[in-house]
Amino acid sequence: MESVQTFILILILALGPGTQSENPGFVVRITQKGLDYARQQGMIALQKELWKIQLPDFSGSYHVDVIGNVHYSFHSLVIRNVQLPGSQVSLLPNVGLKVTISGAFIQLGGQWKVRYAFISNDGDFDLKVEGISISVGLSLGSDAIGRPTVSPSDCSCHIADIDVHFSGSFGWLINLFHDSIESGLRSALEDKICPSVIDSINSQLEPLLQTLPVTAKIDKVAAIDYSLMGRPTVTADYVDAQLKGEFFELSHRSTPPFSPPPLSLPDDHDLMVYFGASEYLFNSAGFVYQSAGALVFNVTDDMIPKDFSIRLNTSAFGALIPQISKMYPDMLMKLQISSPTSPSLNIVPGNLTISPVLHIQAYAILPNSSLVPLFLLELTTQALVKVAMNVGRIQGHLELSKIQIELKHSDVGPFSVSLLNMAVNYYVSNILLPRVNDILQKGYPFPLLDHIQLSDVVIKPYQHFLLFGANVHYG
Ligand SMILES: *[C@@H]1O[C@H](CO)[C@@H](O)[C@H](O)[C@H]1NC(C)=O
Ligand SMILES: *[C@@H]1O[C@H](CO)[C@@H](O)[C@H](O)[C@H]1NC(C)=O
Ligand SMILES: *[C@@H]1O[C@H](CO)[C@@H](O)[C@H](O)[C@H]1NC(C)=O
Ligand SMILES: *[C@@H]1O[C@H](CO)[C@@H](O)[C@H](O)[C@H]1NC(C)=O
Repeated sequence: MESVQTFILILILALGPGTQSENPGFVVRITQKGLDYARQQGMIALQKELWKIQLPDFSGSYHVDVIGNVHYSFHSLVIRNVQLPGSQVSLLPNVGLKVTISGAFIQLGGQWKVRYAFISNDGDFDLKVEGISISVGLSLGSDAIGRPTVSPSDCSCHIADIDVHFSGSFGWLINLFHDSIESGLRSALEDKICPSVIDSINSQLEPLLQTLPVTAKIDKVAAIDYSLMGRPTVTADYVDAQLKGEFFELSHRSTPPFSPPPLSLPDDHDLMVYFGASEYLFNSAGFVYQSAGALVFNVTDDMIPKDFSIRLNTSAFGALIPQISKMYPDMLMKLQISSPTSPSLNIVPGNLTISPVLHIQAYAILPNSSLVPLFLLELTTQALVKVAMNVGRIQGHLELSKIQIELKHSDVGPFSVSLLNMAVNYYVSNILLPRVNDILQKGYPFPLLDHIQLSDVVIKPYQHFLLFGANVHYG
């Protein structure tokens, strides 16, 4: 007994860390409210699908005393009305979803024909099928490229009541075998409903799920990997899909040197969907753009508003640091601002901050356009990040709260860096920052399916992730 336990313990220890899956960079949660909305939309689609049901002609014969064998047939069956008044979707933990429809109603019509001896006759019939109940299971999965899938399972259909009315002068005759006709029509319909439901799922829902942008291209440099990391998980209260949620460089993908922290969403359920965007998603963006050399920004004199007195030239800077104008009289300058390390976002309850380190390399531009280095500054900055959601995109906005300047290197001899405070603050706040904010304003796409719009968005920072909640509109 003991050795068995030891063995199991060893097994758990051996398998544990290896099988423990990585944390997601992004989580999508659909609540019961969201499923109910999806169900309503699904019922609209299913209703249309049921209208398309084509029932086969059917025929039979019956022996009637005195008259003999009567042959009957039904043809030109058409659906005239479909109503799906009651339905519900329930969560089956660790299994999937179950959709049940009750009290559905279908009305159809067609033509009948009877033939016996040398007589034949025909007429119309009208059929009311009431109390239809349908139950279908949906199992959730993910395909080879990480898109969600749904497959119908265990469909069943039952018809409580069927009522057929024949018109025509020989209606009385066909009424004699009313029961067998009703049961024939009942089984013909029961056989058609489940395939129709399954068709509806396969032709409407499945293609919609395939529109998840598993790779959302952002620009020439990067894209976001929104692929599912496994099957969605179903609990008693919601469906969770764990997505990779990672920026990657289009030209060559490499894994960031940090991993996603655990992400566990709070139990909110007032809205239809919740999204958890990990710090990891944003930091992988920082990593990708920094390693691609995309976080470099040049400032030249023509970018500086006319009313700012400290022009980007050696005479203006010479007024602060005299060596500059002595060594390089009357020349324009250029600043190259770059980020030597990946900027990382820090999300804590109530606050989002980013503390990028910036390097500012100043150059004098020689008459032949060559650049000569003057000095290198290192800036330690801190900014508050405001996040918004607009048309399915996360938008950001930075507000600088701190800049600390240090001289890293000088090619023009020693000088006190505090002389540059005003100029540097101005360049960073008025030239760099608005451009960064323009880029952040464009935003990054959320992993949304086609035709899905979000409303009533709430955004709340939690430890290491941002929670977005929203209602959904499909259309
Ligand atoms: C910035 O200036 C450097 C040096 O002149 C140049 O190599 C680089 O292409 C410029 N970068 C941008 C983004 O303009
Ligand atoms: C440099 O800036 C000063 C103002 O500070 C301006 O008067 C001068 O014309 C500028 N020189 C060049 C070469 O642009
Ligand atoms: C948010 O960050 C700012 C700036 O760093 C700080 O002053 C403030 O106290 C922070 N608030 C919370 C709730 O952490
Ligand atoms: C530009 O001029 C400087 C100094 O006169 C010289 O050292 C440099 O080689 C020149 N660069 C080019 C590209 O001609």
